[in-house]
Amino acid sequence: MTWTVVTTDIIIMTSSSSSSVTSPVSCEPARAVTGSCVCVCVREREREQMIECLGPTHSDMSALLLLLLGLLPLIICVLRARKRRDDEPPLINGWIPFLGKALEFGRDAYRFLEEQKKKFGDIFTVHIAGKYMTFIMDPLLYPSIIKQGRQLDFHQFSDKVAPIVFGYPPVMNRKSPGLHDEIIRSFHLLQGDNLTSLTESMMGNLMLVYRQDHLSERPGEEGGWRSGSMYEFCNSVMFEATFLTLYGRPSSASRHSEMVVMRENFVRFDTMFPLLVAEVPIWLLRRTKAIREKLINYFLPHRMSCWLNTSHFIRRRLELLDQYDTLRDVDKAAHHFAILWASVGNTVPASFWAMYYLVSHPEALEVVRREIHDVLKLSGVEFSSDQDVMFSREQLDKLVYLESSINESLRLSSASMNIRVAQEDFSLRLDGEHSAAVRKGDIIVLYPQSLHMDPDIYDEPQTFRFDRYIQDGREKTDFYKDGQRLRYYRMPFGSGSSMCPGRYFAVNEIKQFLCLLLLYFDLQLVEGQTRVTVDCGRAGLGILLPSTDVRFRYRLRTV
Ligand code: HEM
Repeated sequence: MTWTVVTTDIIIMTSSSSSSVTSPVSCEPARAVTGSCVCVCVREREREQMIECLGPTHSDMSALLLLLLGLLPLIICVLRARKRRDDEPPLINGWIPFLGKALEFGRDAYRFLEEQKKKFGDIFTVHIAGKYMTFIMDPLLYPSIIKQGRQLDFHQFSDKVAPIVFGYPPVMNRKSPGLHDEIIRSFHLLQGDNLTSLTESMMGNLMLVYRQDHLSERPGEEGGWRSGSMYEFCNSVMFEATFLTLYGRPSSASRHSEMVVMRENFVRFDTMFPLLVAEVPIWLLRRTKAIREKLINYFLPHRMSCWLNTSHFIRRRLELLDQYDTLRDVDKAAHHFAILWASVGNTVPASFWAMYYLVSHPEALEVVRREIHDVLKLSGVEFSSDQDVMFSREQLDKLVYLESSINESLRLSSASMNIRVAQEDFSLRLDGEHSAAVRKGDIIVLYPQSLHMDPDIYDEPQTFRFDRYIQDGREKTDFYKDGQRLRYYRMPFGSGSSMCPGRYFAVNEIKQFLCLLLLYFDLQLVEGQTRVTVDCGRAGLGILLPSTDVRFRYRLRTV
């Protein structure tokens, strides 16, 4: 039995024995030579004709019925597919039921969106995995969209997805009144005056991990080169130092003994992260559920209560979650695990890219290294590699070339989607003259990777220029499109009300990580490696991972 669907024609055939059938492409009526055959052929000029060839047998009829039943969902989906209404943006449905354009989007979101932009302009709606997503591609329209917070909500979306990914019950419900608002309020403990203590604590923890794992001479090395995986290096240092800074240390030791196992489990979980966000049931993802349970269990209250030097931010969350009897211990632990993901899931790859771009651009690395030494000297500190070094928040603020390098690597590696859910049918204001109708439940998306890679805004956008964000020795903030100054020109941390509350801490910790790296080590890429590109697998979800790992060499500097 064969069946073929050809764009405007539908050809369905069943055959119980060898028969000669004309090519489906020409769609001539089929004629059976032997056996029996039912042929239904519908096409533009013969729409009325339905030809029955020879008498059908009982089994033919059953097979046909089964086939029609099988095709029914497809036909229903095609017939019920959303139709574009007046004033709505162009609609790109795709023909695969439910999935719509999900596969093409998932393959390479940036390229897919650029292609649609060429065909349909700066605003269009795409059917992706059962959702209708309206993409705003012109960054000059971003301020207007970001302003419309009343009708466009972020937290409704995150409250649906985060529980699925991290395994705690939804927060915005009657069982936990006020919890959502309190959680949002607690985010200020990552900023302002609290950033000073977080930054100091991070400095001490980074120094601890560097000193114990990388600064001590290993037997037989005597100042020689060591080599390793760059991603693993960043991951081991940043994961542990961030963990110690936020959650604290065990009462009887300066480091958690299970850190290596936890990191490995975290990487396994993180690999499945895009599938969990896409709402693939966790039981389909092999051992992911068990791995997530192990990670969550690490944060059970009886364990966390023994830790010392826990940050104010996490202490506040502990108190807050304790006020809700409806939450089980394991739910509270899942909330802490979610913060672990938020704090390292993007920071580790961001540290990798910043390190990679500097090490692969030695001229940039030298300028940044000189700047770090100069800032220390200005504070009267003479650096010596056999002593620990500290950078205060004020010193970090002075490192403009380092900051520009980090921002440039974030521009090149970030692919987050800024998502808002329409709370009602309404007319989305685009600019003074234009608007577009959107429906309740539709998702409005800003996709800043398109802005980051726009050659009108950034000259040679694929190239790493460490001083791109510097003008006259200060931060450059004027970038233009079509002659108009852009309010939003770099958006790795999202936008508006949902903007990442950890962004200042994240930039500071990446600065600290790189300061120590450049002060203490000579660094080189191992020769013979091709340029690393981004892996699109996490497009839309934050900082992209490298498509391959990088081998590098490092040795203690003798300063
Ligand atoms: C380079 C590192 C980081 C990047 C690129 C990043 C990026 C983001 C983005 C894109 C969002 C969503 C914003 C939106 O949709 O508008 C977000 C949310 C969030 N981030 Fe970050 N982040 C980073 C580091 C951190 C750190 C270090 C922390 C905390 C310690 C943190 C805590 C959070 C939290 C709690 C949210 C949820 C905010 C909410 O629900 O309103 N992030 N981050």
